[in-house]
Amino acid sequence: MDEIAPRKINYLRLSVTDRCNLRCVYCTYWQDWQKLPATEIMRYEELLRLAAIAAQNGISKVRVTGGEPLVRRGVVDFLRQLHQVPGVTKVCLTTNGVLLRELAPDLYDTGLRHLNISLDTLRRERYRQITGRDNLAAVLGGLERAASLGFHPIKINCVVLKGINDDEVLDLARLAQDRPFQVRFIELMPTVSQEWWRRHFWPINEVHRRLTRLGPLIPAGQEPAAGPAINFHAPEFKGEIGLISTRDGHHCPNCNRLRLTADGKLRPCLLSQAEFDLKGLLRLGLGDDVLAYLFQEAMELKFNRARVSPELSLLPSWPMVSVGG
Ligand code: 5AD
Repeated sequence: MDEIAPRKINYLRLSVTDRCNLRCVYCTYWQDWQKLPATEIMRYEELLRLAAIAAQNGISKVRVTGGEPLVRRGVVDFLRQLHQVPGVTKVCLTTNGVLLRELAPDLYDTGLRHLNISLDTLRRERYRQITGRDNLAAVLGGLERAASLGFHPIKINCVVLKGINDDEVLDLARLAQDRPFQVRFIELMPTVSQEWWRRHFWPINEVHRRLTRLGPLIPAGQEPAAGPAINFHAPEFKGEIGLISTRDGHHCPNCNRLRLTADGKLRPCLLSQAEFDLKGLLRLGLGDDVLAYLFQEAMELKFNRARVSPELSLLPSWPMVSVGG
């Protein structure tokens, strides 16, 4: 049997908003989804306090997500302050890139270097079809600007959708040909209706097979605190290609992340509804020691079970937009 290295839970994903300026087909099919009232959203000073407590309890990498984090006012200052939190050694941002062209220089000034940009197609009409908005040019402009400013690493996340963008896998992969980008293909998670999922799910091994047209794909090393992507080099590529399977839970035993939702719930596992209401306790005036204890409890929960909930039937009954992917 494979030996499982002891895990260190060192990665926290912070969702700073449940709002988004896109309406992606796989994300907001929830017709009756209600935005959180503004008072339910964690304030920046609350997030910074929790980030500091998390860092004292083993977290070193923090990813800021949403919704779309760049739509929240003050996010640039927040990122600057997050970089100052003792013990936080790596700050990353996940964005759809729509506002990146304008914000990239200010973001760079905060010390931010790690960017994940969601981009599922390079065709304008198709982009509109997938995201509900005509923003492809803005995203590509943002990507260019970020690259020329020196952001690194830049990862491009593509959700592969059979019958929608599966014919673009090679074109998307080639974004990593002349640039040191990491283009990552992600299997569609069943956050959509079963029927839609069945129609558009495309298994990652099919993506891999399609990609072999680029030449032999050589497995690349994993970075520490890396996510679930399996990375490859393609011949003559400056960047890398990553493949992310979302189904079989093979990465659960190595999962090193906690999530804080936009309304301040700490979740040990994306696939489980288990959560700790940090906002509620924080607003009751409880001290850092109690909040630290809850971080430790959430970590314990991950340590003690390889998976908090392995069954696909227990997949989130809430939209990705509130959990931050
Ligand atoms: N399946 C796979 N990826 C998803 N994302 C959002 N919803 C889904 C889903 N159903 C991805 C976005 C983005 C990241 C934040 O999460 O495309 O890249």
